[in-house]
Amino acid sequence: MATLAPGPPIQIFKSKSEEKTLSFDQKEILRLKKEKNAILLCHNYQIDAIQQISDYVGDSLGLARQAAETDAEIIVFCGVHFMAETAKILNPGKTVLLPDMEAGCSLSDSCPAEKLALYREKNPDIYVVAYVNCSAEVKALSDVICTSGNAVQIVNRVPEDREILFVPDQNLGQWVMGQTNRKMNLWPGSCYAHVLFTQESVERCRLEYPNAPVVAHPECMDSVRDLADEVCSTEKMVSFCRDNPSETFIILTETGMMHRLNRELPDKSFVAGPTGHCACNDCRFMKMNTLPKLLECLRTGNPAIEMNEDLIRKAKLPIERMLAWS
Ligand code: 13P
Ligand code: SF4
Repeated sequence: MATLAPGPPIQIFKSKSEEKTLSFDQKEILRLKKEKNAILLCHNYQIDAIQQISDYVGDSLGLARQAAETDAEIIVFCGVHFMAETAKILNPGKTVLLPDMEAGCSLSDSCPAEKLALYREKNPDIYVVAYVNCSAEVKALSDVICTSGNAVQIVNRVPEDREILFVPDQNLGQWVMGQTNRKMNLWPGSCYAHVLFTQESVERCRLEYPNAPVVAHPECMDSVRDLADEVCSTEKMVSFCRDNPSETFIILTETGMMHRLNRELPDKSFVAGPTGHCACNDCRFMKMNTLPKLLECLRTGNPAIEMNEDLIRKAKLPIERMLAWS
């Protein structure tokens, strides 16, 4: 029997979305959304109250596709800055609102455009594959964009004679190398939240739920991914848990994901994978969006994503290549 140091409590996560009636703010958001011909796009990590009233809830790839296809006049993006920016790049003529402009991403911050520009200067033949969690300036310096949902497919499409630099997530990059057998140079970035899962925290959880498959996001470290039955994007987590006969799953990603899983698969149970020191794992950036901020931005049309045309043009090419390749 393994001996593990005591850790934080392990929780079956149940959201109560079905029991709640809509709050005043939620009803007002729905009314304004209709009045202003706005679409509400929401990432799987948002709070339950926002997920409940969104037109679409999904992963980065699904959200980019929705943004590319919508005919709404206003896109309200409940996610983080790089996601709203991607929606603006795909819809320069539309207003794209983000309830809190401070909602950034540690991965995106780990790859400043100036550093990547310098790398490119020193390595002019390099082929840059950029994970979508990066700034528009970094996208503009890249050859193709990928998300966790299509990274393997995208890297497999890169011409074989080209040397690849994968930015900014070394953990996703390392996982993709294993899946594709393609050697890549990895930018040393990581997600501050996903690296909080540890081998020990997952093993402790498995002692309590020995029959539950472990589902991990590829941004987790390799020592954690190695313990997983499935490594995938947040969207694929839903289909994996739906198709797998097990009733209980251990989920290693941001806690907001549990709302989506509980809503879509109410007959199954989801255990929020604990980190080394906490029972849940919230991304502080994702959780900056709140109902009052969402209502305010719909009322006022602020804050809106502003970008210059030249940057939009340059950043759009690698995003369009991704959409064509996947
Ligand atoms: P997904 O595209 O898998 O939803 O991941 C986005 C993200 O930011 C993970 O931390
Ligand atoms: Fe960025 Fe990590 Fe938050 Fe995803 S969970 S938005 S990668 S900081």
